[in-house]
Order: sequence, then C-alpha cells, then structure tokens
Amino acid sequence: MAKSKELSFQYKEFERIEDLPLELKDLAKKAKEALTTSYSPYSEFAVGAAVLLDNSEIVLGSNQENGAYPSGLCAERVALFYAGSQFPGVAVKAMAVAASFKGTPIAEPVSPCGACRQVMIETQNLGGRPYTIVMVGEKRIIVLEDAKFLLPFTFSSVKEATK
Ligand code: THU
Repeated sequence: MAKSKELSFQYKEFERIEDLPLELKDLAKKAKEALTTSYSPYSEFAVGAAVLLDNSEIVLGSNQENGAYPSGLCAERVALFYAGSQFPGVAVKAMAVAASFKGTPIAEPVSPCGACRQVMIETQNLGGRPYTIVMVGEKRIIVLEDAKFLLPFTFSSVKEATK
C-alpha cells in the first residue's frame, strides 16, 4: 500500500533589508558588499555570500568564473568552503546571499543553485543544528530557518544512508 506524505515548511518575507533583525541585517549588507569582489565577466551576474559562524567570524565569498566555464564556483560554495578551511569544526549560524546583473541588484531574492544547496545542507549537518538563510532581493527578502528546506530528499553519503 502506498502512503501519501507531505512536506511543508515556513519562511519569512521582509520588504527591506532594514526590516531584518540586526544580526541578519548586517549579514545581508555584507553579502551585498561581497558583490564587489565577484569575478563574473562571462555571465555579468555577480553573487555575494556572507557566512556568520558560531565564533562570530563573518566569512565573505563571491562567484568566481573561469574561461573554461564549468571551472568557476558559486559565491555560496566559495564562502562555505573558505569558512571550512579557515575555521574547521566551527558551526554556521547564518548565511546571506545577494546578487546583481550588470551592476543592478536583482529584484527577486537570489535562490542558491542545486549544487550549493547540497553543500549548504552538508555544512549544516556538520554543525549539528539548523542555520538561518537570508536570500536578498530588492523587492523582497526571504528568510529560512533551516538549510534542509532548500532541498528535500538531499543526497546522503553512503556513510549516512547506511546508518
Ligand atoms: N551563481 C552563484 O554564485 N550562486 C548561485 O547560487 C547560482 C549562480 C553564479 C555562477 C555564475 O558565476 C553566475 O552566478 C551565473 O550563473
């Protein structure tokens, strides 16, 4: 017999960065600042990410493209991998992402790509508790309280799946 199941989650929407709680407001602003370091001559789509760690450090990342296109890396993974290499074992508290196209901030909240979602969730699993994600757009800002909301049925490594 098949069982019908349902997945649902809640998120918050804010109109302006100024409306966010202080810690997240600062992080969203930092994600916007990180746009200035984006190397995106091919897509002209700049992405900035800011990661707040449990030790209060804030790590910034931006997308880095390459002439051999697939060799580039998204802002989210640049930031999370840098955080992991500089502060191994320190959990993530929150992460903000912002983007602009041809220098103009995008209207809708940036939505991380599938590969980044996978990495965001594994990072969360390593930290042992959910972290906040702020997706910044000019029209609205979305705040999620758990990276898992971004990717149902996330891939689990053999180690985890066979536990
Ligand atoms: N990009 C990110 O940095 N993050 C995402 O979540 C999606 C896409 C980058 C990759 C590429 O440099 C540019 O945006 C256009 O796809």
